[in-house]
Amino acid sequence: MITFEGAAKLYPDGTVAVDDLNLTVETGQTTVFVGPSGSGKTTSLRMVNRMVEPTRGTVLIDGEDVRRRDPAALRRSIGYVIQQAGLFPHRTVRDNIATVPLLLGWGRARARARATELMELVGLEPSQARRYPHQLSGGQQQRVGVARALAADPPVLLMDEPFSAVDPVVRAGLQDELLRLQQELRKTIVFVTHDIDEAVRLGDRIAVFRPGGRLAQYDSPERLLAEPCDAFVESFVGYDRGVRRLSFFPARELSLREDVVFEDATGADRAAEALRGENEPWALVVSADRLPLGWAAAAQLDRAPAGTALGALDLAPYGHTFDVATDSLRAALDAAVLSPAGRAVGVDTDGRVVGVVSQEDLGTALWSVTT
Ligand SMILES: Nc1ncnc2c1ncn2[C@@H]1O[C@H](COP(=O)(O)OP(=O)(O)O)[C@@H](O)[C@H]1O
Ligand SMILES: [Mg+2]
Repeated sequence: MITFEGAAKLYPDGTVAVDDLNLTVETGQTTVFVGPSGSGKTTSLRMVNRMVEPTRGTVLIDGEDVRRRDPAALRRSIGYVIQQAGLFPHRTVRDNIATVPLLLGWGRARARARATELMELVGLEPSQARRYPHQLSGGQQQRVGVARALAADPPVLLMDEPFSAVDPVVRAGLQDELLRLQQELRKTIVFVTHDIDEAVRLGDRIAVFRPGGRLAQYDSPERLLAEPCDAFVESFVGYDRGVRRLSFFPARELSLREDVVFEDATGADRAAEALRGENEPWALVVSADRLPLGWAAAAQLDRAPAGTALGALDLAPYGHTFDVATDSLRAALDAAVLSPAGRAVGVDTDGRVVGVVSQEDLGTALWSVTT
């Protein structure tokens, strides 16, 4: 647990970088500091490992004032990852990762063995061990940075905009990896970003900073999106927060229709009759092994010559599907909005159709879960 007690940083030029920060970072959780540039996130983060000394107040780790710790020893006991990874350019990947174990006197063989282990953990190929940082992509360099921070297995990890310099696709991959690692390692992570989407994705708790180094709100991502405490936080989290909040509700609870799903060998006339009985405008056509093929409109079925099988019709694309077991309501809504039929196709982990849900039914479900 990391505790900020009235921590403040005033620079001699009069800049208030951090103003009276009171906040507790829970052990084993990811806490994100988010806010616009210059709002005091980096300064607050660096108070934890004494790269910045507060001018007022205290920072404690597990109840102990960090000022009572030797700064060098403290820093070796805390992982630190920054933008552009901050790797040593003249050391190989393996030696970069082994830095802290070597400083701690583990000996070369053990430190290198640990480096190899970590490369695998963060998804680097063993063949990259002897490369130099400039021979890696930005995303790979960040992985090395994360591996180096984890090398001595520190309980606390400080990450300052670690993924801000890589392109959005690589960035999403790195975020996924961090979520996976954290499932396994349960470190106490403080993660700084200016990107609210990244904060919502990674944080168990989010601290929103406002200009002037003031803490504006400290909450779970879900509560932050549901109830921003003031106009600043509301505009910072973005006006589409309602839709974004749906990512916290599982699609599992939706009731899907199966009676409008037909195999491709079924006669168009039979499907037409079933839709008429239900007053439904669209039939989803699937293969014999339940993979989605496309949508047939009721009017199209009515026009089909007698004896036509559904598979012979010109079907509208089924769009993208959502996984009923693992996806959120946001994914289901997105699939429905993008579907030509205004209906989302729910599938199991093998991609086989479980059922469909219309925008209308989704609307009802959204209303009941979010109110
Ligand atoms: N060494 C310094 N001297 C004077 N002002 C500083 C110093 N370091 C940071 N600041 C100022 O403190 C404020 C907070 O900076 P910082 O913590 O880096 O913000 P953030 O990480 O949220 O972008 C900014 O206005 C910045 O210019
Ligand atoms: Mg910063």
